[in-house]
Amino acid sequence: MKIVFDETNLFAAMVGEAHGVTPAEYKAQMRRGPEVVRAFRKLVDRGEVGFPSLPFQTEVLKQIQAYARKVRGAYDSVCVLGIGGSALGAWALDCALRGPHPVQKPFSRQNPRLVILDNVDPALVGAALEVMDPKKTLVLAITKQGGTAETVAALMVVREWQGKRAPRQSVAVTTPGRGDLYTLALREKWPIFAIPENVGGRFSVLSAVGLLPAALIGLDAGRLLRGAAAMTEQCWQTDAGRNPALRAALLHHLIWTAKNKTIHVAFPYSNRLWGTAFWFRQLWAESLGKSKTRAGENVSLGQTPVAALGTTDQHSQVQLYIEGPNDKVFSFWAVEKQGREGRIPRTRYKLDSFDYLAGRRLSELLEAERLSTEAALTEAGRPNCTYTLERLDEEHLGAFFQLLEFQTAFIAELLDVNAFDQPGVEAGKRFTYGLMGRPGFEEYRERFERYEKRRKQAG
Ligand code: PA5
Repeated sequence: MKIVFDETNLFAAMVGEAHGVTPAEYKAQMRRGPEVVRAFRKLVDRGEVGFPSLPFQTEVLKQIQAYARKVRGAYDSVCVLGIGGSALGAWALDCALRGPHPVQKPFSRQNPRLVILDNVDPALVGAALEVMDPKKTLVLAITKQGGTAETVAALMVVREWQGKRAPRQSVAVTTPGRGDLYTLALREKWPIFAIPENVGGRFSVLSAVGLLPAALIGLDAGRLLRGAAAMTEQCWQTDAGRNPALRAALLHHLIWTAKNKTIHVAFPYSNRLWGTAFWFRQLWAESLGKSKTRAGENVSLGQTPVAALGTTDQHSQVQLYIEGPNDKVFSFWAVEKQGREGRIPRTRYKLDSFDYLAGRRLSELLEAERLSTEAALTEAGRPNCTYTLERLDEEHLGAFFQLLEFQTAFIAELLDVNAFDQPGVEAGKRFTYGLMGRPGFEEYRERFERYEKRRKQAG
């Protein structure tokens, strides 16, 4: 497994002192590395944060693999009901390892498709139920809290569609003993896979939340964890030179706070990493967008994550990136060995805009486009860095998830914020419960009514 973080274009020598890291800033920041690792290690050793341990949970892996073996061949569709951290990891895995959604191989009982219902848009849910066959669909209800409105509502709709077979064709991934999904699953004797209490939604892709859907669609969950375990070893190094997550966190923190780059563009040059870019967007936004430091100081900080796709967004976003406000840092994600080269036929057309491409490879053009964008951004004084995965397989993806999660945890240490709570998300959930009349949330209904009154007065 090889993932390289290249920070060259984050330096002042490349993008100027106003936008890049100077040698003195670099030296001072790198000195903070060991303390950052030690502080985060304490949280993990105290059991407060669980994601670094996930790659080593061999018993959980065995249970997941055994269940996937048992049901192999019985279903042509695996339908995930979940939202946010309970859905994005599965999408990232499917998209990266089986191909972007509209162009995947035909599905079958040997190669089940993954249908993710991560919204309560009736158009999505209705269409999904029209295309799937209830006899051949396994339903995975995934929710850490066990009662998230969107997931529960989708489950209720899907259960009616499943009919009598619902108890036999449903699986719960949830926190044992916590919410109503667990109660229902126990009552109806569904298989239950646990989400550890100390693993939050956006950090849970390497728990049953991501591993179970992965194993059910035929991905190698063991290799995912092997790659993640190897990366975890690197991420515990206190020497930033040998720890890509730490180096990246230290530099991103500097660029964000000292150079005022309040937007972080995750820029994969790979359609297969598009799902991962959306997974990362949630990880970065929910973990680092906070109103208070851990000491209680009001800060309202955050770096807005944006997902852009190369080369597609060169023809949509890059004009803004190069000439608009210099308020962004760019993280390119590259794949060195694409697997397919996409050879362009040697046919000559006697046309200048055609013939220079004859006999070349699509992968070569993709890489040339990435390098050109990188060069153009750098020339325009826009700081950028590159994460290069040697190839895109289970091992590298598992490692990449873990690298980005450690990077997020380390930057939270530097900012002194809690990366592992999400009071803003919870507030939104409580308002919805109040508005929809869930018992126990009347206070939120009243708050909503007061808000509506204010709107009327203002209008
Ligand atoms: O990362 C998080 O904690 C959230 O985005 C959750 O994943 C999301 O709100 C869904 O929550 P739950 O899994 O409890 O249904």
